[in-house]
Amino acid sequence: ARLVVLVSGSGTNLQALLDAIGDDPEGFGARIVAVGADRNGIAGLERARAAGIPTFVCTVKDHATREEWDRALTGATAAYEPDLVVSAGFMKIVGKDFLARFGGRFVNTHPALLPSFPGAHGVRDALAYGVKVTGCTVHFVDDGVDTGPIIAQGVVEVRNEDDEAALHERIKEVERQLLVEVVGRLARNGYRIEGRKVHVGE
Ligand code: GRF
Repeated sequence: ARLVVLVSGSGTNLQALLDAIGDDPEGFGARIVAVGADRNGIAGLERARAAGIPTFVCTVKDHATREEWDRALTGATAAYEPDLVVSAGFMKIVGKDFLARFGGRFVNTHPALLPSFPGAHGVRDALAYGVKVTGCTVHFVDDGVDTGPIIAQGVVEVRNEDDEAALHERIKEVERQLLVEVVGRLARNGYRIEGRKVHVGE
């Protein structure tokens, strides 16, 4: 499968995919054909370049409207003809053009146990709420925010001494493994989505 990965930050989830694919994309079942971002100057883009992978950047403020940005992001992604698009810390909500084109083959990873704590501050919100366990969720993206059909989740304990950074780091250790496992299975075994249920490789 051809993957396009979208990033906005450090790109450690991207790096986990790069490391898992290594020099055996056939074995993994997928290769990353491009990495897209919504901003320049992030480590995620450096990681792609270090791996010799083409990159593209679509910055919201470079476009007159959000819809035009969405169209640009859709076109830039479509140019690489991906089978699957992976949002790995991509911090923008895509619009209707992107979903029309990639809905059903666009997955996101979120650092909380959805439907708890959706949005851009899932780790902070879980910590503030005082939950004893949190975790991460890999799901298909739909037209809501972090509301699409869930593929897999991983549980992470919250410790009394945790601050947001420490907890997020512990979540990311689980999240990176979960994302690699899910993307590999989707790519190798195929899948179908029935309502809110995802059947992988059946
Ligand atoms: C991940 O925890 C992702 O779920 C969240 O932001 C983090 C991105 O980390 N949205 P990285 O850029 O993959 O290191």
